[in-house]
Amino acid sequence: MTADVELDGLTVRFGSFTAVADANLRIRGGEFFSFLGPSGCGKTTILRTISGFIDPTQGAVRIGGQDMRGIGANKRPTALIFQSLALFPMMSVADNIGYGLRVRGVGKSVRQKKVDELLHLVALGDQGAKKVDELSGGQRQRVAIARALAVEPQVLLLDEPLSALDLKLRQHMRNELRAIQKRVGITFIYITHDQGEALTMSDRIAVMNRGRIEQVGDGRDVYNAPRTAFVASFVGENNAIVGFVTDVAEGMAVIEGKLGRFRATNPLGLKKGALATLFVRPEALRFGAADNSLAAITREIAYEGNLTHVGLRTAEDTHLTVLLSAGEAAPEMDAPASVGFDAARAIILPPRQDD
Ligand SMILES: Nc1ncnc2c1ncn2[C@@H]1O[C@H](COP(=O)(O)OP(=O)(O)O)[C@@H](O)[C@H]1O
Ligand SMILES: [Mg+2]
Repeated sequence: MTADVELDGLTVRFGSFTAVADANLRIRGGEFFSFLGPSGCGKTTILRTISGFIDPTQGAVRIGGQDMRGIGANKRPTALIFQSLALFPMMSVADNIGYGLRVRGVGKSVRQKKVDELLHLVALGDQGAKKVDELSGGQRQRVAIARALAVEPQVLLLDEPLSALDLKLRQHMRNELRAIQKRVGITFIYITHDQGEALTMSDRIAVMNRGRIEQVGDGRDVYNAPRTAFVASFVGENNAIVGFVTDVAEGMAVIEGKLGRFRATNPLGLKKGALATLFVRPEALRFGAADNSLAAITREIAYEGNLTHVGLRTAEDTHLTVLLSAGEAAPEMDAPASVGFDAARAIILPPRQDD
């Protein structure tokens, strides 16, 4: 049992403040879909609107094709996992998982069978009798998931559920969550401000900024083919070079600014004279000559084993980062260096609208 979720011109205002502006989106049934964006961009508001705790100011939420207007949170085919998990600490793991079923009047034997299934699903088969506060953070996380799944939602909504865990566990739980989603096959809608989480777990991602969805695509799309300056700088690290478009031809453009003249791809077809920002990833920058090159001074070399981050400063005080993989020679510290990049690996976009 699974359902698609449609946002149709969804707008949510709190007084005169617009928290979500005209969101249009169709999340497919069985998809692992993430909303990614900085704190305050409207992610929780979207999730609470889908689950029925907030009413849209305009537009609609449809689940499985049905308009959810007037349908209360407890009547929707959704379950929500909060950041805080909201488990009952003094109850056993099994009682926590079976709680929703008990409230709905499901008899003890059916309940026990279902709880056993769920304990196995989340790899807590032998932990049912423990109290929740005897568990580790990652185990608690899994209890919250099992409890939400117990009532057989068609859509599971997860609000930054891993943010309280330490880094190692968070990375482990990413795989775990993805595996659980594959096993149960229902739609997962996940929100996070952590791009690593979104990229590793999701079939598709909506990148949000100030209440607006700026781009929807799979991880590769949003990383390799950002379509706004915000997406280019929020998803992964990026170097930004500002200038004006001085020439355009066949999907490429040239920009000129205080750092020089650079050629790159022009996916949005910016016109001559437009103010623009060129983005080039740290891993696309190289020392030595290329299609485009500029002069800078090495100011920082951070060796991380498999990678080396090199920080550079240009004479105009622009900061650039170069990412070298193991085996690539790092330049000398505080020395002049020439860095270059291929035109095909850089992208020219309009400047950010909001700053
Ligand atoms: N009930 C509310 N009343 C007024 N403003 C709110 C309310 N809920 C959220 N907001 C505001 O809406 C914006 C988006 O909030 P939220 O959806 O929680 O962001 P996120 O989850 O992306 O961090 C924030 O500026 C927040 O202060
Ligand atoms: Mg939030």
